[in-house]
Amino acid sequence: MIDLHVAEAKPTDAADLVSVIHAAFGARPPLDPPGTALQETAETVEAAIATDGGLLAQVDQEPAGAILFAERTVDGARWLELRRVSVHPRFQHRGVATAMVGCAEEVAQARGMEGVRLVARVELPSTLAFWRHRGYVEVGRRDPYVDLAKRLPVEIATSSAAETKAVGERLATLLRAGDLILLSGELGSGKTTLTQGIGAGLRVRGEVTSPTFVIARVHPSMVGGPPLLHVDAYRLGGVAELDDLDLDTTVDDAVTVVEWGEGIAEGLAEDRLEVVLTRPIGAQATGGGQTTTGDGTTSDEDADRRTIRVVPVGRRWMNVPLRGALTTADLLG
Ligand SMILES: Nc1ncnc2c1ncn2[C@@H]1O[C@H](COP(=O)(O)OP(=O)(O)O)[C@@H](O)[C@H]1O
Ligand SMILES: [Mg+2]
Repeated sequence: MIDLHVAEAKPTDAADLVSVIHAAFGARPPLDPPGTALQETAETVEAAIATDGGLLAQVDQEPAGAILFAERTVDGARWLELRRVSVHPRFQHRGVATAMVGCAEEVAQARGMEGVRLVARVELPSTLAFWRHRGYVEVGRRDPYVDLAKRLPVEIATSSAAETKAVGERLATLLRAGDLILLSGELGSGKTTLTQGIGAGLRVRGEVTSPTFVIARVHPSMVGGPPLLHVDAYRLGGVAELDDLDLDTTVDDAVTVVEWGEGIAEGLAEDRLEVVLTRPIGAQATGGGQTTTGDGTTSDEDADRRTIRVVPVGRRWMNVPLRGALTTADLLG
């Protein structure tokens, strides 16, 4: 058991952070141009913490890892930039960096930001692999610097089928041909309802229904846009079977929405939105408190609540203002 502890850094932690930053960056191979991390002092680090914060990781109560935060606005959206990401060479390979990155993502989420970004060096392939493994994708390159970014999941609460449809309509405004959306969630969680909203937003023909009797259905656009390809992966043995269905469209030309797609349909595209629909505990179809409304009809308010979690995967979504588009006030209020 190792005693690993990550906390938001206080200005009084500056000396500890500097010691970790100097030890970590001092142990790196020489780079051209050299980094500037060794020029950090307790004063510069204290000032950075006081402005935008940072993280201090401790192993057995000794300083083991450090990150400085910088709030950045990119195309009008707020991001958390990570600077001086360092693990003391004595404490490597113990999950310190992974734990810090998880914390940093929570901080960005709590600050209502779009995601986390950082600048890495192309000369350090194992560092790049570390970030890629955690879902960070390259969004820019100015050799020898690489801009990496990870957009955070967006969570939306709805309290009626109509609201879930409205989320689908908003989502549709961001979609284009080739996009893949994987829906997961138990039966009745609202996957088809959300797809109806997407279909309405895309202005496609035909009623979107549960694809129970067909494995996949193509809804052509009425406005010259991409068709909606609505797939029930539950009945699909594997994605290869999609090719055998002889549909009027391909995944590259359509917006593809797959119900029950997790574990099956990821291979359709590197870039995708993974949407997870859940009901709050206690709002299952059989449970929940029945309340009587003023006009004497019964309703089960909890039973109509859903949480829609949208997880963007891949470069396609890095420059799309997902949070802004999906969490506008009129939907939430
Ligand atoms: N907030 C909500 N979002 C989506 N559906 C809701 C909501 N509240 C109640 N419902 C109802 O739950 C059911 C969801 O069914 P459906 O969309 O077919 O689910 P799935 O495709 O996941 O099996 C519908 O009858 C819908 O009217
Ligand atoms: Mg369904």
